[in-house]
Amino acid sequence: MEKDLAADRQQLRRLINGFQTSQVLHALTVLGIPDQLGGGRRSAAALAEATGCNPPALYRLLRASAALGVLDEDQSQGFALTPLGEGLRSDAAGSLAGWVELIGTPNFWQNWGQLVDSVRTGETGWRLRHGVDAWTYRSQHPEDGRVFDRAMVSMTGTHVEALVRSYDFAPFRTIVDVGGGRGALLAHILRDNPGSRGVLFDQPHVVETAAALLAEQGVDDRCRVEAGSFFESVPGGGDAYLLKSVIHDW
Ligand SMILES: C[S@@+](CC[C@H](N)C(=O)[O-])C[C@H]1O[C@@H](n2cnc3c(N)ncnc32)[C@H](O)[C@@H]1O
Repeated sequence: MEKDLAADRQQLRRLINGFQTSQVLHALTVLGIPDQLGGGRRSAAALAEATGCNPPALYRLLRASAALGVLDEDQSQGFALTPLGEGLRSDAAGSLAGWVELIGTPNFWQNWGQLVDSVRTGETGWRLRHGVDAWTYRSQHPEDGRVFDRAMVSMTGTHVEALVRSYDFAPFRTIVDVGGGRGALLAHILRDNPGSRGVLFDQPHVVETAAALLAEQGVDDRCRVEAGSFFESVPGGGDAYLLKSVIHDW
């Protein structure tokens, strides 16, 4: 019984300290360690030199990451990515590098720090801290907006294969992605459906960085980009309209 209680408390403490897990993964990724380990195992000292970090402090971060299961430590302070940690590399298939960058960003988690007041008042953390909603804030703070848009590309990259496998988009000549971010989903659908054309629709500051992604995916000649607010109107003429990870925001 006592043993069960101790195990329960340990599990509960792990949940309570969850923000530390988030910050370890965030710091590891923002410091570029997963990319540094893309070629294989490296020593803590070599990683400190390559990333310009304080060696003892970085060593502790690497050990914390090993305890979380994303790195493997050998007997001589050498570290390698585990299969789980591979997902933190920026060039991994279904990389979560953009997502972990957002989740640990000071502004993002300080907004989450308003949760008690948010539940008491019914107001969002964004409004309590900044006086405006998240979308207005991001439109006024381009760097925060870019981090968010990269996180959406990252998150959508992990869903997109399952989405295109489970639904046949081929019958649609024109597919409109409403609130489509930088176009990660639409680009994938168009790549798999050469007979379809796309219209990517999102706020002006978001779609202004979409062209590069669409060109990278080789679909820019079949995809038009339109800026605006879906509260005013959406592009007409589509045979299918997508709203992915949008409705829950409202
Ligand atoms: C959670 S993100 C999802 C992005 C994309 N659909 C995806 O799944 O990766 C919500 C998107 O809605 C867009 N959005 C928010 N308000 C909007 C508005 N009034 N008009 C157009 N787009 C809007 C945001 O800019 C953002 O790209």
